[in-house]
Amino acid sequence: MGMSAFYGDVDRPESIATIHAALDAGVTLIDTGDFYGMGHNEMLVREALRAAPAGSRERALISVKFGALRDPDGGWAGHDGRPAAVRNFAAYSLQRLGTDHIDVYRIARVDPGVPIEDTVGAIAELVEAGHVRHIGLSEVGAETLRRAASVAPISDLQIEYSLISRGIEDAILPAARELGIGVTAYGVLSRGLISGHFAADRELAADDFRGMSPRFQGGNLSHNLGLVERLRGIAGQKGVSVAQLAIAWVLSRGEDIVPLVGARRREQLAEALGALDVEFGGDELAAVERAVPRGAAAGERYPAPQMAHLDSEH
Ligand SMILES: NC(=O)c1ccc[n+]([C@@H]2O[C@H](COP(=O)([O-])OP(=O)(O)OC[C@H]3O[C@@H](n4cnc5c(N)ncnc54)[C@H](OP(=O)(O)O)[C@@H]3O)[C@@H](O)[C@H]2O)c1
Repeated sequence: MGMSAFYGDVDRPESIATIHAALDAGVTLIDTGDFYGMGHNEMLVREALRAAPAGSRERALISVKFGALRDPDGGWAGHDGRPAAVRNFAAYSLQRLGTDHIDVYRIARVDPGVPIEDTVGAIAELVEAGHVRHIGLSEVGAETLRRAASVAPISDLQIEYSLISRGIEDAILPAARELGIGVTAYGVLSRGLISGHFAADRELAADDFRGMSPRFQGGNLSHNLGLVERLRGIAGQKGVSVAQLAIAWVLSRGEDIVPLVGARRREQLAEALGALDVEFGGDELAAVERAVPRGAAAGERYPAPQMAHLDSEH
Protein backbone atom coordinates (compact mmCIF):
# COMPACT_ATOMS: atom_id res chain seq x y z
CA MET A 1 0.00 0.00 0.00
CA GLY A 2 2.66 2.46 1.03
CA MET A 3 4.41 1.93 -2.33
CA SER A 4 1.50 3.70 -4.03
CA ALA A 5 -0.35 5.89 -1.56
CA PHE A 6 -1.09 7.10 1.97
CA TYR A 7 2.47 7.41 3.33
CA GLY A 8 3.90 10.31 1.31
CA ASP A 9 6.33 10.18 -1.60
CA VAL A 10 6.68 6.93 -3.52
CA ASP A 11 9.78 5.68 -5.31
CA ARG A 12 8.97 3.23 -8.14
CA PRO A 13 12.45 1.75 -8.75
CA GLU A 14 13.00 1.30 -5.00
CA SER A 15 9.52 -0.25 -4.62
CA ILE A 16 10.25 -2.79 -7.35
CA ALA A 17 13.69 -3.52 -5.92
CA THR A 18 12.05 -4.10 -2.52
CA ILE A 19 9.51 -6.54 -3.97
CA HIS A 20 12.34 -8.37 -5.73
CA ALA A 21 14.39 -8.51 -2.54
CA ALA A 22 11.34 -9.87 -0.70
CA LEU A 23 10.75 -12.60 -3.29
CA ASP A 24 14.47 -13.42 -3.18
CA ALA A 25 14.30 -13.77 0.60
CA GLY A 26 11.41 -16.24 0.32
CA VAL A 27 8.52 -13.87 1.04
CA THR A 28 5.46 -15.14 -0.84
CA LEU A 29 2.56 -12.92 0.28
CA ILE A 30 2.04 -9.77 -1.78
CA ASP A 31 -0.91 -7.74 -0.61
CA THR A 32 -2.56 -5.05 -2.70
CA GLY A 33 -5.86 -3.24 -3.21
CA ASP A 34 -7.38 -2.00 -6.46
CA PHE A 35 -7.93 1.39 -4.76
CA TYR A 36 -4.30 1.79 -3.63
CA GLY A 37 -3.49 4.67 -5.97
CA MET A 38 -6.47 3.71 -8.19
CA GLY A 39 -4.74 0.77 -9.88
CA HIS A 40 -1.20 2.11 -9.37
CA ASN A 41 -0.34 -0.60 -6.86
CA GLU A 42 -1.65 -3.50 -8.93
CA MET A 43 0.32 -2.31 -11.95
CA LEU A 44 3.41 -1.98 -9.77
CA VAL A 45 2.99 -5.57 -8.60
CA ARG A 46 2.57 -6.67 -12.21
CA GLU A 47 5.74 -4.87 -13.29
CA ALA A 48 7.73 -6.32 -10.38
CA LEU A 49 6.56 -9.88 -11.03
CA ARG A 50 7.23 -9.59 -14.77
CA ALA A 51 10.82 -8.53 -14.09
CA ALA A 52 11.39 -11.17 -11.40
CA PRO A 53 12.99 -14.59 -12.03
CA ALA A 54 10.85 -17.17 -13.86
CA GLY A 55 8.33 -18.88 -11.64
CA SER A 56 7.94 -15.88 -9.30
CA ARG A 57 4.25 -15.37 -10.12
CA GLU A 58 3.50 -19.03 -9.41
CA ARG A 59 5.32 -18.91 -6.07
CA ALA A 60 3.68 -15.62 -5.04
CA LEU A 61 0.34 -15.39 -3.29
CA ILE A 62 -1.37 -12.24 -4.54
CA SER A 63 -3.99 -10.92 -2.12
CA VAL A 64 -6.29 -8.23 -3.53
CA LYS A 65 -8.80 -6.01 -1.75
CA PHE A 66 -11.63 -4.37 -3.68
CA GLY A 67 -14.84 -2.48 -3.06
CA ALA A 68 -13.69 0.99 -2.02
CA LEU A 69 -15.09 3.66 -4.32
CA ARG A 70 -12.82 6.58 -5.23
CA ASP A 71 -13.22 9.83 -7.12
CA PRO A 72 -10.82 11.64 -9.47
CA ASP A 73 -9.67 13.97 -6.68
CA GLY A 74 -8.63 11.00 -4.54
CA GLY A 75 -11.73 11.18 -2.33
CA TRP A 76 -13.72 8.25 -0.97
CA ALA A 77 -17.32 7.44 -1.84
CA GLY A 78 -18.22 4.36 0.18
CA HIS A 79 -18.01 0.67 -0.67
CA ASP A 80 -19.67 -1.51 -3.26
CA GLY A 81 -20.17 -5.22 -2.53
CA ARG A 82 -22.94 -6.00 -5.01
CA PRO A 83 -22.29 -9.22 -6.95
CA ALA A 84 -22.15 -7.42 -10.34
CA ALA A 85 -19.66 -4.94 -8.88
CA VAL A 86 -17.53 -7.79 -7.46
CA ARG A 87 -17.24 -9.35 -10.93
CA ASN A 88 -16.47 -5.96 -12.45
CA PHE A 89 -13.75 -5.16 -9.88
CA ALA A 90 -12.21 -8.61 -10.44
CA ALA A 91 -12.16 -8.23 -14.23
CA TYR A 92 -10.20 -4.98 -13.95
CA SER A 93 -7.83 -6.34 -11.29
CA LEU A 94 -6.96 -9.42 -13.34
CA GLN A 95 -6.15 -7.16 -16.27
CA ARG A 96 -4.04 -4.72 -14.24
CA LEU A 97 -2.19 -7.53 -12.48
CA GLY A 98 -1.61 -9.35 -15.79
CA THR A 99 -2.54 -12.67 -14.26
CA ASP A 100 -5.24 -15.26 -14.87
CA HIS A 101 -6.07 -15.67 -11.20
CA ILE A 102 -6.06 -13.81 -7.89
CA ASP A 103 -4.91 -15.97 -4.99
CA VAL A 104 -6.93 -14.32 -2.21
CA TYR A 105 -9.78 -11.91 -3.00
CA ARG A 106 -11.65 -9.87 -0.40
CA ILE A 107 -13.81 -6.80 0.01
CA ALA A 108 -11.85 -4.14 1.94
CA ARG A 109 -14.82 -3.02 4.03
CA VAL A 110 -18.27 -4.56 4.27
CA ASP A 111 -20.81 -2.74 2.10
CA PRO A 112 -23.56 -1.91 4.64
CA GLY A 113 -26.17 -2.04 1.86
CA VAL A 114 -25.36 -5.58 0.71
CA PRO A 115 -25.57 -8.74 2.84
CA ILE A 116 -22.09 -10.25 3.25
CA GLU A 117 -23.56 -13.52 2.02
CA ASP A 118 -24.17 -11.94 -1.40
CA THR A 119 -20.67 -10.46 -1.67
CA VAL A 120 -18.99 -13.69 -0.58
CA GLY A 121 -21.30 -15.70 -2.84
CA ALA A 122 -20.11 -13.65 -5.81
CA ILE A 123 -16.45 -14.34 -4.90
CA ALA A 124 -17.31 -18.04 -4.52
CA GLU A 125 -18.55 -17.99 -8.12
CA LEU A 126 -15.23 -16.47 -9.19
CA VAL A 127 -13.50 -19.33 -7.36
CA GLU A 128 -15.63 -21.85 -9.21
CA ALA A 129 -14.75 -20.19 -12.53
CA GLY A 130 -11.02 -20.31 -11.69
CA HIS A 131 -10.45 -16.54 -11.49
CA VAL A 132 -9.89 -16.59 -7.72
CA ARG A 133 -8.29 -19.28 -5.57
CA HIS A 134 -9.33 -18.33 -2.01
CA ILE A 135 -11.85 -16.08 -0.30
CA GLY A 136 -10.71 -13.58 2.32
CA LEU A 137 -12.29 -10.91 4.46
CA SER A 138 -11.01 -7.63 5.85
CA GLU A 139 -11.79 -5.83 9.11
CA VAL A 140 -14.95 -7.81 9.91
CA GLY A 141 -16.33 -8.83 13.28
CA ALA A 142 -17.04 -12.33 14.59
CA GLU A 143 -20.67 -12.40 13.50
CA THR A 144 -19.83 -11.42 9.91
CA LEU A 145 -17.08 -14.05 9.89
CA ARG A 146 -19.65 -16.69 10.81
CA ARG A 147 -22.18 -15.50 8.24
CA ALA A 148 -19.56 -15.44 5.50
CA ALA A 149 -18.23 -18.88 6.45
CA SER A 150 -21.73 -20.31 6.16
CA VAL A 151 -21.71 -19.44 2.43
CA ALA A 152 -18.27 -20.68 1.37
CA PRO A 153 -14.92 -21.61 2.92
CA ILE A 154 -13.08 -18.47 4.10
CA SER A 155 -9.29 -18.78 4.09
CA ASP A 156 -8.14 -15.61 5.71
CA LEU A 157 -9.12 -12.52 7.66
CA GLN A 158 -6.96 -9.43 7.16
CA ILE A 159 -7.19 -7.17 10.19
CA GLU A 160 -5.10 -4.74 12.21
CA TYR A 161 -3.21 -6.43 15.01
CA SER A 162 -0.17 -5.22 16.90
CA LEU A 163 1.11 -4.62 20.39
CA ILE A 164 -1.05 -1.50 20.51
CA SER A 165 -4.09 -2.76 18.53
CA ARG A 166 -5.29 -5.87 20.32
CA GLY A 167 -9.05 -5.61 19.93
CA ILE A 168 -9.29 -8.86 17.94
CA GLU A 169 -8.29 -10.92 20.97
CA ASP A 170 -11.75 -10.80 22.60
CA ALA A 171 -14.10 -12.28 20.00
CA ILE A 172 -12.69 -12.06 16.47
CA LEU A 173 -9.54 -14.16 16.86
CA PRO A 174 -11.35 -16.90 18.83
CA ALA A 175 -14.06 -17.00 16.12
CA ALA A 176 -11.46 -17.18 13.34
CA ARG A 177 -9.74 -20.04 15.16
CA GLU A 178 -12.99 -21.88 15.74
CA LEU A 179 -13.83 -21.57 12.02
CA GLY A 180 -10.31 -22.50 10.86
CA ILE A 181 -9.69 -19.08 9.28
CA GLY A 182 -6.12 -17.74 9.19
CA VAL A 183 -5.30 -14.14 10.13
CA THR A 184 -3.19 -11.69 8.13
CA ALA A 185 -2.16 -9.04 10.65
CA TYR A 186 -1.59 -5.59 9.18
CA GLY A 187 -0.39 -2.43 10.90
CA VAL A 188 2.04 -4.57 12.90
CA LEU A 189 4.20 -1.46 13.25
CA SER A 190 1.10 0.69 13.69
CA ARG A 191 1.96 2.40 10.39
CA GLY A 192 5.45 3.23 11.55
CA LEU A 193 4.39 4.60 14.96
CA ILE A 194 5.97 1.71 16.84
CA SER A 195 8.77 1.08 14.34
CA GLY A 196 11.30 2.92 16.47
CA HIS A 197 11.98 5.28 13.56
CA PHE A 198 9.08 7.71 13.89
CA ALA A 199 9.99 11.07 15.43
CA ALA A 200 7.56 13.61 16.91
CA ASP A 201 8.93 16.34 14.62
CA ARG A 202 8.58 14.35 11.40
CA GLU A 203 7.00 16.39 8.62
CA LEU A 204 4.24 14.53 6.83
CA ALA A 205 2.92 15.17 3.31
CA ALA A 206 -0.56 16.72 3.17
CA ASP A 207 -2.13 13.42 2.06
CA ASP A 208 -0.25 11.18 4.51
CA PHE A 209 -2.76 9.05 6.44
CA ARG A 210 -0.76 9.65 9.59
CA GLY A 211 -1.52 13.36 9.42
CA MET A 212 -5.16 12.44 10.15
CA SER A 213 -4.68 9.36 12.32
CA PRO A 214 -5.66 10.00 15.96
CA ARG A 215 -2.63 8.12 17.28
CA PHE A 216 -0.26 10.54 15.53
CA GLN A 217 -1.80 13.74 16.93
CA GLY A 218 -0.34 16.03 19.61
CA GLY A 219 -0.57 14.57 23.09
CA ASN A 220 -1.52 11.14 21.76
CA LEU A 221 1.66 11.04 19.70
CA SER A 222 3.85 12.01 22.67
CA HIS A 223 2.19 9.37 24.83
CA ASN A 224 2.55 6.68 22.16
CA LEU A 225 6.18 7.52 21.46
CA GLY A 226 6.71 7.14 25.22
CA LEU A 227 5.54 3.54 24.87
CA VAL A 228 8.04 3.08 22.04
CA GLU A 229 10.84 4.20 24.36
CA ARG A 230 9.86 1.43 26.78
CA LEU A 231 10.07 -1.06 23.91
CA ARG A 232 13.43 0.40 22.91
CA GLY A 233 14.79 -0.46 26.35
CA ILE A 234 13.77 -4.11 26.00
CA ALA A 235 14.91 -4.31 22.37
CA GLY A 236 18.28 -2.86 23.32
CA GLN A 237 18.78 -5.52 26.01
CA LYS A 238 18.00 -8.21 23.43
CA GLY A 239 20.21 -6.66 20.77
CA VAL A 240 17.32 -6.24 18.31
CA SER A 241 15.53 -3.19 16.92
CA VAL A 242 12.16 -1.90 18.10
CA ALA A 243 10.54 -2.86 14.77
CA GLN A 244 11.93 -6.38 15.07
CA LEU A 245 10.57 -6.68 18.61
CA ALA A 246 7.11 -5.49 17.51
CA ILE A 247 6.97 -7.87 14.53
CA ALA A 248 8.32 -10.79 16.59
CA TRP A 249 5.62 -10.19 19.20
CA VAL A 250 2.92 -10.66 16.52
CA LEU A 251 4.76 -13.73 15.21
CA SER A 252 4.67 -15.15 18.74
CA ARG A 253 0.85 -14.97 18.87
CA GLY A 254 0.25 -18.13 16.84
CA GLU A 255 1.13 -19.99 13.68
CA ASP A 256 -2.19 -18.96 12.18
CA ILE A 257 -1.25 -15.26 12.30
CA VAL A 258 0.87 -13.91 9.44
CA PRO A 259 2.40 -10.46 9.95
CA LEU A 260 1.92 -8.36 6.80
CA VAL A 261 4.67 -5.77 7.08
CA GLY A 262 4.43 -2.64 4.94
CA ALA A 263 8.11 -2.30 4.03
CA ARG A 264 8.56 0.31 1.30
CA ARG A 265 12.33 0.21 1.00
CA ARG A 266 14.96 -2.54 0.98
CA GLU A 267 16.47 -1.39 4.26
CA GLN A 268 13.04 -1.61 5.95
CA LEU A 269 12.51 -5.07 4.49
CA ALA A 270 15.90 -6.25 5.75
CA GLU A 271 15.11 -4.96 9.23
CA ALA A 272 11.66 -6.59 9.19
CA LEU A 273 13.06 -9.95 8.09
CA GLY A 274 15.41 -9.83 11.07
CA ALA A 275 12.33 -10.40 13.24
CA LEU A 276 12.32 -14.02 12.10
CA ASP A 277 15.43 -14.62 14.20
CA VAL A 278 14.07 -13.06 17.40
CA GLU A 279 13.35 -15.61 20.10
CA PHE A 280 11.67 -14.85 23.39
CA GLY A 281 12.91 -16.67 26.43
CA GLY A 282 11.84 -16.87 30.07
CA ASP A 283 9.97 -13.77 31.13
CA GLU A 284 10.69 -11.73 27.99
CA LEU A 285 7.23 -11.83 26.39
CA ALA A 286 5.65 -10.90 29.69
CA ALA A 287 8.15 -8.04 30.02
CA VAL A 288 7.10 -6.70 26.60
CA GLU A 289 3.45 -6.81 27.64
CA ARG A 290 4.20 -5.15 30.97
CA ALA A 291 5.98 -2.37 29.09
CA VAL A 292 3.06 -1.91 26.69
CA PRO A 293 -0.05 -3.41 28.27
CA ARG A 294 -3.14 -4.03 26.21
CA GLY A 295 -5.00 -0.76 25.66
CA ALA A 296 -1.93 1.38 26.42
CA ALA A 297 -2.10 3.42 23.20
CA ALA A 298 -3.73 6.84 23.14
CA GLY A 299 -6.13 7.45 20.26
CA GLU A 300 -8.23 5.22 18.05
CA ARG A 301 -6.62 3.44 15.11
CA TYR A 302 -8.61 5.41 12.49
CA PRO A 303 -10.34 8.81 12.39
CA ALA A 304 -13.97 8.61 13.55
CA PRO A 305 -15.63 8.46 10.08
CA GLN A 306 -13.40 5.55 9.09
CA MET A 307 -13.94 3.80 12.43
CA ALA A 308 -17.66 3.89 11.61
CA HIS A 309 -16.97 1.78 8.48
CA LEU A 310 -15.27 -0.98 10.45
CA ASP A 311 -17.54 -3.97 10.93
CA SER A 312 -14.84 -5.24 13.32
CA GLU A 313 -15.49 -2.37 15.74
CA HIS A 314 -19.26 -2.86 16.11
N1 LIG B 1 -7.19 -4.54 5.32
C1 LIG B 1 -6.97 -3.29 5.65
O1 LIG B 1 -7.88 -2.59 6.07
C2 LIG B 1 -5.57 -2.71 5.54
C3 LIG B 1 -5.34 -1.43 6.04
C4 LIG B 1 -4.06 -0.92 5.94
C5 LIG B 1 -3.04 -1.68 5.37
N2 LIG B 1 -3.31 -2.92 4.89
C6 LIG B 1 -2.26 -3.72 4.25
O2 LIG B 1 -1.25 -4.03 5.21
C7 LIG B 1 0.03 -3.63 4.73
C8 LIG B 1 0.88 -3.18 5.91
O3 LIG B 1 0.24 -2.11 6.56
P1 LIG B 1 0.92 -0.73 6.87
O4 LIG B 1 1.99 -0.47 5.85
O5 LIG B 1 -0.14 0.27 7.04
O6 LIG B 1 1.52 -0.95 8.29
P2 LIG B 1 2.91 -1.14 9.00
O7 LIG B 1 3.62 -2.31 8.46
O8 LIG B 1 2.55 -1.09 10.42
O9 LIG B 1 3.69 0.23 8.69
C9 LIG B 1 4.54 0.39 7.61
C10 LIG B 1 5.28 1.71 7.75
O10 LIG B 1 6.14 1.65 8.88
C11 LIG B 1 7.33 2.38 8.62
N3 LIG B 1 8.52 1.52 8.93
C12 LIG B 1 9.57 1.88 9.67
N4 LIG B 1 10.44 0.88 9.77
C13 LIG B 1 9.96 -0.14 9.08
C14 LIG B 1 10.44 -1.44 8.81
N5 LIG B 1 11.60 -1.90 9.28
N6 LIG B 1 9.70 -2.24 8.03
C15 LIG B 1 8.52 -1.79 7.54
N7 LIG B 1 8.03 -0.55 7.77
C16 LIG B 1 8.73 0.27 8.53
C17 LIG B 1 7.29 2.79 7.17
O11 LIG B 1 6.92 4.16 7.14
P3 LIG B 1 7.86 5.24 6.42
O12 LIG B 1 8.33 4.61 5.15
O13 LIG B 1 6.99 6.39 6.22
O14 LIG B 1 8.96 5.48 7.36
C18 LIG B 1 6.18 1.96 6.56
O15 LIG B 1 5.49 2.65 5.56
C19 LIG B 1 -0.26 -2.55 3.69
O16 LIG B 1 0.78 -2.47 2.74
C20 LIG B 1 -1.55 -3.04 3.09
O17 LIG B 1 -1.29 -3.97 2.06
C21 LIG B 1 -4.56 -3.44 4.99
